[in-house]
Amino acid sequence: MSKLEIITIPDPILREISTPIERVDDDVRRLMDDMLETMYDAPGVGLAAIQVGVPKRLLVLDVADEDQGPRPYFMANPQIVRLGETTRVHEEGCLSIPGVHVEIERPGDVVVRYIDRRGEQQELAADGLLATAIQHELDHLDGRLIIDFMSRLKRDIVIRKFKKQARAD
Ligand code: NI
Repeated sequence: MSKLEIITIPDPILREISTPIERVDDDVRRLMDDMLETMYDAPGVGLAAIQVGVPKRLLVLDVADEDQGPRPYFMANPQIVRLGETTRVHEEGCLSIPGVHVEIERPGDVVVRYIDRRGEQQELAADGLLATAIQHELDHLDGRLIIDFMSRLKRDIVIRKFKKQARAD
C-alpha cells in the first residue's frame, strides 16, 4: 500500500463529475487500499477517489471509534436508494479543505447500494455519522463541496484564502 497526495481547493479537479467504475479489478482494489491508508493517515473518516486525482465513482469510509478497531467500507458506484425523513446536523470537515468546518443538515439515515471490494453488490442502511459521511463523499463524486453549503460571502472568503495559500506554496 502507498500513501497518496490529497488534492485541496482551489484545484478545479475537485469540481469534476466522476465516472462509474466498469469493473472492480486488482487495479481498483489497489487504489481502494491506497485511499484507505491515505485516509487513516490524514486522519479522516471518508475519502473519494477524486480527492486523490482519480475521477472515478469510488470512495472509502471508516467512522468507527478507535477502540472499536478498523471498520472500513469500500464503495464503487455508490447510489443512494432511500433517504430518511428525519435530518441530522453535523459540523463537517473535508480533507480537501483543511481547517474549515461547516454545519450541514442532511437526511439522518440513508440506504446506499454499491459494489464492494470483492466486486459484489451490497445494500447498506446507515444512520448517524456514517449516513452523514456517505452523503458527504457522494457529493464529491458530483463535484460538490461543503463550502457550497456556506453563504456566498463566506465561501468567497475561504476560496480566496486557499488561492492565496496555493500561490505562496
Ligand atoms: Ni470531503
